[in-house]
Amino acid sequence: MSRQTAFITGASKGIGKALTQALLERGWRVIALARHTEPLDALTQTYGDHCRPVAVDVRDAAALQDAVRTHIAAPAQSVHLLFPSAGLAHVGAFEAMPPEAWRAMIEVNLTGLIQTVQLVLPHMADGGHIVIPGSIAGATGFANWAVYSATKFGVRGFAEALRNEVRPRGIHVTHLTLGATATPLWEAVPGAWDRRNMLTPEEVAAWILHILDHPQSGVEDLRLLPPKGVL
Ligand SMILES: NC(=O)c1ccc[n+]([C@@H]2O[C@H](COP(=O)([O-])OP(=O)(O)OC[C@H]3O[C@@H](n4cnc5c(N)ncnc54)[C@H](OP(=O)(O)O)[C@@H]3O)[C@@H](O)[C@H]2O)c1
Repeated sequence: MSRQTAFITGASKGIGKALTQALLERGWRVIALARHTEPLDALTQTYGDHCRPVAVDVRDAAALQDAVRTHIAAPAQSVHLLFPSAGLAHVGAFEAMPPEAWRAMIEVNLTGLIQTVQLVLPHMADGGHIVIPGSIAGATGFANWAVYSATKFGVRGFAEALRNEVRPRGIHVTHLTLGATATPLWEAVPGAWDRRNMLTPEEVAAWILHILDHPQSGVEDLRLLPPKGVL
């Protein structure tokens, strides 16, 4: 069987990095995007050409387009898994939040994600998977998370409509409703959060592999929470 290809944004840290590593271990080729690609150096050393780090800011449409052209369209690759994981959280009272902080969340978590999907979609393999990392904050509104929540409610609606649009091509769209996961994202979140109560990015990656292994099941939404529930 020929090697499968994944296109992952936010591949340098957290959930995107854990999934990149898990797929490389399984023999996939991964096009791994982030603004800073140094954290992927060790994976490139281990997996060589199968791990292709690409330094791109998902807010830069031209750079994203160039990455898709160079790594997907020109070598006539099909994408079997798209995981647009680039994201960030600015948390705090909305009234006091600088506009550049909430705008960045919309530009990365929502516009950047939509832009990524639109550029990669023509190259998706029939039967391929688009897995969208949403959040429990896209189902419930928590105080101090207003704009993050807006992006995640948006992403959930996007995934739901897109699923019905691409179903005729046999493309699966899974939305993940994720609870707290112990990643670097929490370094910027005020408060004392016990990482031991969180999901691990490796567990989230393992569930994504499970979805890939069961293409006969339409996993439309997978809600994964830490055992203690919403933190
Ligand atoms: N952790 C959680 O508890 C949790 C829960 C629910 C949902 N999620 C969602 O899951 C996704 C991944 O989160 P995570 O926890 O893995 O975050 P993370 O550990 O902070 O990693 C975020 C990734 O996004 C990249 N990134 C950030 N801004 C970018 C930009 N402008 N352009 C390109 N890449 C950018 C970062 O790399 P660079 O800085 O190098 O660009 C990094 O690789 C996010 O959408 C997040 O909202 C997370």
